[in-house]
Amino acid sequence: MSDQEPEKKVEPPLIILKNIHKAFNGQDILNGVNLEVNQGETLVIIGGSGTGKSVTLKHIVRILTPDKGQVFVDGIEVSKPMKSSKIAEYRRKIGYLFQSGALINWLNVYDNIALPLRENTTLSEKEIKAKVDEKLNLLELEQAVRKFPSEISGGMKKRAGMARAIIANPKILLYDEPTSGLDPIMSANINQMVNLMKKELSVTQIMVTHDMNSAYAVADKIAMLYKGNIIFYGTPDEIKQSQDERIQHFIQGIPSKIEI
Ligand SMILES: Nc1ncnc2c1ncn2[C@@H]1O[C@H](COP(=O)(O)OP(=O)(O)O)[C@@H](O)[C@H]1O
Ligand SMILES: [Mg+2]
Repeated sequence: MSDQEPEKKVEPPLIILKNIHKAFNGQDILNGVNLEVNQGETLVIIGGSGTGKSVTLKHIVRILTPDKGQVFVDGIEVSKPMKSSKIAEYRRKIGYLFQSGALINWLNVYDNIALPLRENTTLSEKEIKAKVDEKLNLLELEQAVRKFPSEISGGMKKRAGMARAIIANPKILLYDEPTSGLDPIMSANINQMVNLMKKELSVTQIMVTHDMNSAYAVADKIAMLYKGNIIFYGTPDEIKQSQDERIQHFIQGIPSKIEI
């Protein structure tokens, strides 16, 4: 081998979940979950309702810590005890779009989006306005800017939540069921947005969903959670070719057998 050959630098995965166990009230939810997300990739986690998809995301945001196992994000072990100031600092790396959208009801759309900047930066109101306006434009929310969450549609709430999640240009974006309850056009818009974030901001993303159209539209890799474990990890093409019945039933939406 010639010594002229450039050394290929391999980036370690940005997010690593190692043997995560989590139980609630004596019931195992995660039972040894291993998962990695490479820098700049979009991972989609699929799985039935109640399988622990949201619980998995909450370990990354450090809303939850594991009973056993480790979570590493950007070189930091976030499953260890951390001071609340360190947790707050860590969370600034992450934009998190909750299942509910989680807008604050008594703030209008503008103030909801501006909130993370007002709380965590020393930017002036003028600088904040420039950033909020940019996201309002990107997500086509201009006409909702002075409205309150109760006055806008479900799709607009999702987009406003998305604008807030990306306002501080985080390194990691997490989405929990971002297309649930949306019509197909709005879902396609959200998928497009997720892809745009990857392209424009080079973010590393995890989307939890049970919407396979959405999974195929955004995923570099898909992981399937089933009874506390990851039973599949691979590309969209690979999952379509999987011979595993549990996987095929899920991705094709085949109902489980009912005894009559
Ligand atoms: N903080 C909690 N306390 C007790 N049980 C919880 C808590 N969070 C989640 N669970 C339970 O863990 C299971 C998985 O929840 P979740 O991750 O929300 O499922 P999903 O895959 O639908 O997102 C559910 O049975 C849920 O009731
Ligand atoms: Mg959930």
